[in-house]
Amino acid sequence: MIEEKVIIEDLQGSVTIKSAPVNQNGKKVYLESYGCAMNFSDSEIVASILTKEGYETINKPEKADLVFINTCSIRDKAEQTIRNRLKHYKGLKRQYNKNMVVGILGCMAERLKDQLLEEEKLVDIVAGPDSYRDLPNLINSIEGGQKAVNVLLSREETYADISPVKLGENGVSSFLSIMRGCDNMCSFCVVPFTRGRERSRNPETIVKEAQELFDNGFREVTLLGQNVDSYRWNITKKGEIKDKDQETVSFAQLMEKVALVNPKLRVRFSTSHPKDMTDDVLHMIAKHKNICDFIHLPVQSGSSNVLKKMNRGYTREWYLQRIDAIRRIIPNSSISTDIISGFCGETEEEHQETLSLIKEVKFDFSFMYKYSERPKTLAERKYEDDVPEELKSSRLSEIITLQKEQEKELNKRFSGQIKEVLVEGPSKKDPKEWRGRLSENTVVIFKNNDFKPGQYIKVKITECGTAMLKGEVIS
Ligand code: 5AD
Ligand code: SF4
Repeated sequence: MIEEKVIIEDLQGSVTIKSAPVNQNGKKVYLESYGCAMNFSDSEIVASILTKEGYETINKPEKADLVFINTCSIRDKAEQTIRNRLKHYKGLKRQYNKNMVVGILGCMAERLKDQLLEEEKLVDIVAGPDSYRDLPNLINSIEGGQKAVNVLLSREETYADISPVKLGENGVSSFLSIMRGCDNMCSFCVVPFTRGRERSRNPETIVKEAQELFDNGFREVTLLGQNVDSYRWNITKKGEIKDKDQETVSFAQLMEKVALVNPKLRVRFSTSHPKDMTDDVLHMIAKHKNICDFIHLPVQSGSSNVLKKMNRGYTREWYLQRIDAIRRIIPNSSISTDIISGFCGETEEEHQETLSLIKEVKFDFSFMYKYSERPKTLAERKYEDDVPEELKSSRLSEIITLQKEQEKELNKRFSGQIKEVLVEGPSKKDPKEWRGRLSENTVVIFKNNDFKPGQYIKVKITECGTAMLKGEVIS
């Protein structure tokens, strides 16, 4: 009965679907996304840009004139998945449409640039995360059989004015991008190289999009950014006001603005950074019932020495203090994290420190990875990737086993409780059963009583699994 609990990171697979542009140009486009929620959100921006140009987005790749794959570079495995996917498209092109145009978008496009065209003959267009407005031009420029590349990174682009075309969502929950890029330079991470410098989106456009989503039936938005605690509008990095005649907005204030759109709109956010997450964010969560009691706070390692080498900007003690602050200000909050096993030079003792931190914090959920060296990163240049693959794997297994044991124990706290659930729709495994989510983000399965997606119901929790609960509907 256990389904996977997806927060927002590391979604894999495809999204596509439905748009009927006003003035169609007769061309059909299929969009497929990999990696983080930001990519899925970006694909909706791409869909919007192309829809305006007359393209129709469809969900059958074999019928497409254009296929765009929005890619992820975070780990080597993510890139290998895309390379294999391209082999599949080679077959599709041969079988269905030899004129099919294939474009690579996102982080892999940005990282590999023209090299991708040399290595993957199938690819016609390479477009980085800041060049989606240029896609119509890129498409036009390949008509004579040439190839097209735009991988310019921008310091300003936030696609603020573009209303995304919703793709393959459940009609209840939506991502809402509030900023782009990352200035943190964690030593293991390729993102600052593929997504460029940090920049925040105009708050007015964020609130407007949240309102539009609510008006269209959505009842949950996840505010997205690589490091949402760095969101700031009209404030410099040093905290100075840029333009005295304009309002300034911090992340906490932005959350409040979105929460005030409607009390029936749940607000989530991801990802927070332990070095930047301030108490005013926590107080804002506590203040508004519709800001969810759930924080994704990636720790990466339980060892201060490893954290230093990772350039994370905090120690184990600092992280634990942040956890204390969450528990003090939002006592019932759920907390999830990201953990990397086998970072450069990680000793057995340091690995044990990660296990002990997991025991101490008791995370409700965790994404757990083996370290994968990424070209150009600080870690690649400075440290040796010297933890043997088998050791990375066995450490990862220990981390996963401990985490899963704890999750099961933790979920038992919900047993017998009556909780508010936002109905999402039929369960993936059995359409007779429906699924919804707690404010704490845990999925709850219940019998369908003619509910509508987007409705709030009360459920008594009767069964607690590792990643999912079952319950009886009360009202
Ligand atoms: N190897 C393994 N995991 C990584 N992550 C980021 N870069 C790497 C890497 N090189 C993980 C981190 C981050 C999450 C999105 O992906 O845990 O928080
Ligand atoms: Fe990567 Fe660190 Fe930025 Fe997250 S905060 S995207 S891990 S550099």
